[in-house]
Amino acid sequence: MKSNTPMDNNAAEEKLVSAASSEVIINIEKVNKWYDDFHVLKDIDLVVKKGERIVVCGPSGSGKSTLIRCINNLEEHQEGSIVVDGITLNKNLKNIDHIRTEVGMVFQNFNLFPHLSILDNLMLGPIWVRKMPKAEARATALEYLERVKIPEQADKFPGQLSGGQQQRVAIARSLCMNPKIMLFDEPTSALDPEMIKEVLDVMVELAETGMTMIVVTHEMNFAKTIADRVIFMDEGDIVEENEPLQFFNNPQHDRTKLFLSQIL
Ligand SMILES: Nc1ncnc2c1ncn2[C@@H]1O[C@H](COP(=O)(O)OP(=O)(O)OP(=O)(O)O)[C@@H](O)[C@H]1O
Ligand SMILES: [Mg+2]
Repeated sequence: MKSNTPMDNNAAEEKLVSAASSEVIINIEKVNKWYDDFHVLKDIDLVVKKGERIVVCGPSGSGKSTLIRCINNLEEHQEGSIVVDGITLNKNLKNIDHIRTEVGMVFQNFNLFPHLSILDNLMLGPIWVRKMPKAEARATALEYLERVKIPEQADKFPGQLSGGQQQRVAIARSLCMNPKIMLFDEPTSALDPEMIKEVLDVMVELAETGMTMIVVTHEMNFAKTIADRVIFMDEGDIVEENEPLQFFNNPQHDRTKLFLSQIL
């Protein structure tokens, strides 16, 4: 899956200075998950520091989406513990609600409400979840539409926008909730090549603000630019993790080497 984005021509693009602090914001310990009898996550340990930027890669079916979906409880784990921003994910619905307001998520297929205007899509969460006054929610929405460079699309409906524009709206929608952590699940893989860069550019700008980010992606030049750490998953395991230069230039495990030889 060789990437053809304009970022390729810019591989020397400057690596962002790490924003990682010493404060732990996500602590995943010995997490196991099954779908019926299929063991999808196996003893996963992962500690993420505030401001850290992590890229997750690995073959299809290795459990990448499942892992990040467990972080905001879109999927439930059966064993082990996940603590996000000091709150343990368990059956307590209050905890889950709290974590979902702090953790934004961007999906491959945007998940915008088709019957609502762009502005209304952005105002929904702040008004209903954050209880923000309407005028303030509108101002916030417009601010983030500026940030993702499509303020002129405010009154249109999702179906009237390109895929790249819709994905930028989806990112803006998450940011309107003022999250502490942003999760991205292959945010560019449904996009035509010419739209990938505009979305990655927005994500690089977000990384520059110091946002804690976990990004499932196979955009390896993006990983080299923003990641503090690249994590490689296979068959429900974290097989290898390293800072990007080491990860790409000096992979340790045969499975990582094979994967990199297939995508690079
Ligand atoms: N709801 C589900 N019920 C049963 N099995 C599932 C479910 N969701 C995922 N799986 C299985 O769990 C495994 C991991 O899925 P997951 O979506 O986490 O993989 P992934 O690494 O994100 O793959 P991809 O790169 O294709 O998105 C796959 O074998 C998948 O078929
Ligand atoms: Mg996936």
